[in-house]
Amino acid sequence: MSAPPSTLTDDVVASFAATPDERLRTILGRVVVHLHELVREVRPTTAEWEAAIGFLTAVGATCDDTRQEFILLSDVLGVSSLVETLNGAPEGTEGTVLGPFHMTASPPRELGDSIDDLGGGRRALVTGRVVDPAGRPVPGAVLDVWQCTEDGHYDVEEPGVQPAGNGRGLFRADDEGRFRFRTVVPAHYPIPTDGPVGALLGATGRHPFRPAHVHFLVSAPGFATLTTHLFVAGSPYLDQDAVFAVKGSLVVDFVEVDAPTEGLDRPHRHADVELVLVPAVPSAR
Ligand code: BEZ
Ligand code: FE
Repeated sequence: MSAPPSTLTDDVVASFAATPDERLRTILGRVVVHLHELVREVRPTTAEWEAAIGFLTAVGATCDDTRQEFILLSDVLGVSSLVETLNGAPEGTEGTVLGPFHMTASPPRELGDSIDDLGGGRRALVTGRVVDPAGRPVPGAVLDVWQCTEDGHYDVEEPGVQPAGNGRGLFRADDEGRFRFRTVVPAHYPIPTDGPVGALLGATGRHPFRPAHVHFLVSAPGFATLTTHLFVAGSPYLDQDAVFAVKGSLVVDFVEVDAPTEGLDRPHRHADVELVLVPAVPSAR
């Protein structure tokens, strides 16, 4: 077996030396160094390298307008969670993964509306306030929320069964940063396993389940956009999320309420949260 030329890694890094964008040049250089180190350590056979390329090709081929297998791959490898965590600010609400199901626009809805178009049984009210780190309201913050049904399916996974936009809503907080919407308590569910990422989980004996949660993407001018979840306290898999996204601060009680409220005339659950946005910082470039 012939040894690789000792200057190979340096030569490849140097090939990017004229990259005008300094950040791009730095990132590419480090990618090359780490990738070469990995190959030197693992010493894949040619067949194994071809299999790796075949796997990534299959991941790309599985992506379409409503499915993002590369995000799923990043998620199950813990990379999405790491990127969110490193980019979070300690004085703000903790962020967590975007996931692959934010592929379709959420329908604009009015405060208090229901995002459940199916009339599910385990009904819930979610209320809260968007504030800055000093506790001052962020009026007019835009909240994009999405979740699965109480059976654990997103609308995009069941076209023709669920109406498009079911479980989704785009809300604008009021002048005091307050928001409220009705929904059903979401279920824990398996991430998609019918593609190459599912094959990876199968080959490694990993389970595909995520604990029950509601996704939030919260934005307002002058603030960093917050990508986060509310996790339902007591849900299965809170301690073994397939995508490593659970943070204790994001686990919320959906408290049982017996009184009728806002069209919820049966016993229902109520979750109340404060979402703290941090001021946007100019890019480090
Ligand atoms: C989700 O919560 O929608 C999700 C996140 C990561 C992988 C799959 C699904
Ligand atoms: Fe989800």
